[in-house]
Amino acid sequence: MSSPALQAGASGKVTDFNNGTYLVSFTLFWEGRVSLSVLLIHPSEGASALWRARNQGYDRVIFTGQFASGSSHVDTDCALVLNTSAELCQYLDAQDQEAFYCVRPRHMPCATLTHMYSKNKEISYLDKQERRLFERSNVGVEIMENFNTINVSACNKQTVPIKKKCKLGMTSEIPSGHVWKDTWIPTSCSLIPIEMKKCLSGKFIYLMGDSTIRQWMEYFMKNVNTLKSVDLHESGKLRHQLAVDLDRNINIQWQKHGYPLIGSLTYSVKEIEYITRVIDRTAGEKNTIIVISLGQHFRPFPIDVFIRRALNVHKAVQRLLLRSPDTVVIIKAENTREMYNDAERFSDFHGYIQNLIMKDIFHDLNVGIIDAWDMTIAHGTNAVHPPQPVVRNQINTLLNYIC
Ligand SMILES: *[C@@H]1O[C@H](CO)[C@@H](O)[C@H](O)[C@H]1NC(C)=O
Ligand SMILES: *[C@@H]1O[C@H](CO)[C@@H](O)[C@H](O)[C@H]1NC(C)=O
Ligand SMILES: *[C@@H]1O[C@H](CO)[C@@H](O)[C@H](O)[C@H]1NC(C)=O
Repeated sequence: MSSPALQAGASGKVTDFNNGTYLVSFTLFWEGRVSLSVLLIHPSEGASALWRARNQGYDRVIFTGQFASGSSHVDTDCALVLNTSAELCQYLDAQDQEAFYCVRPRHMPCATLTHMYSKNKEISYLDKQERRLFERSNVGVEIMENFNTINVSACNKQTVPIKKKCKLGMTSEIPSGHVWKDTWIPTSCSLIPIEMKKCLSGKFIYLMGDSTIRQWMEYFMKNVNTLKSVDLHESGKLRHQLAVDLDRNINIQWQKHGYPLIGSLTYSVKEIEYITRVIDRTAGEKNTIIVISLGQHFRPFPIDVFIRRALNVHKAVQRLLLRSPDTVVIIKAENTREMYNDAERFSDFHGYIQNLIMKDIFHDLNVGIIDAWDMTIAHGTNAVHPPQPVVRNQINTLLNYIC
């Protein structure tokens, strides 16, 4: 539901009666003219086809590894699973038993792998009929055509129950909040305005994952004028980033997660590592904040890849919280993305499943969840990199968790 004039929106709650009937309920969070929209993103046949296809092959994206030694430069195929009789280089994390492979270039050691890029492979595990389900006109079909707006007026009861300030470990409701005047208002707790620079003082913030959490780095740089970016002598896309304010003792870092990393622009893999290793190296204490964002790069691969990674991260966080229980760990959930863009690889259906998996896996730990999924629906954005107001609302949630 939304009121564009009020920059307001919220998701509905879907109940599946498992008999072909669904109930969609909306909470009337605000007064005024409200429009309702119910989109059938994929029909049941589409969801089944996506699920089956996803788990069929690891080769929807092909990675190219660049090896360099002296004056030799060789590119070879790399992947999570490579079906070839050629000799392979294995890049293994022994503790997590996670591996990535490249075809070994002739006369060059595996350690000369320096860079990587990827592109989509012309392959589909959907048959011709199934592919029709993902043509633009069949995706995100409006069910409530010609629905008039409704006029929501104030309740008679004047006393609104007072909500507690948001803190770590609270369970959320569905929907977990709504947006009003571009500001996220959680359903079960309240966010108070917090002065960012003051809150960040003395904090060590480690952002780990994909570019949706790198957006936080950009936001901090833009909005904390005393933060200085430190040149880490790494070049290219996806390089480590570090920003500091020495007077206030603020340290903010961003680091990409390990393979698989999709990107058409070449990135360095010289110091690529799994975030579990970074978490293991972190001493942790009450001013250390770790924010993890995983998901978008996993959508094109069978679900076991994502589950294994999520479990490994869970174990690393568990170890961290055992040795340093005061450390603040926050999971920034995956957000929705472009609706019509290559459903087989990137559909939000894949992301939705991963979101449920993350919630399930991290359920037993005292970590904060930032429900970026619901926020992007409420904001009505369909962008893999959500616009500034969404990032601002995510960061305001973080500030409430840590200050
Ligand atoms: C499906 O189940 C719901 C809840 O039990 C019920 O209200 C509805 O009438 C059922 N619909 C059909 C088509 O059987
Ligand atoms: C591996 O490649 C061979 C030869 O190209 C092919 O016959 C086989 O089906 C492939 N296996 C898998 C699991 O893709
Ligand atoms: C909406 O309802 C309120 C209260 O009933 C009324 O005062 C207002 O005129 C209505 N607005 C519109 C646009 O119908």
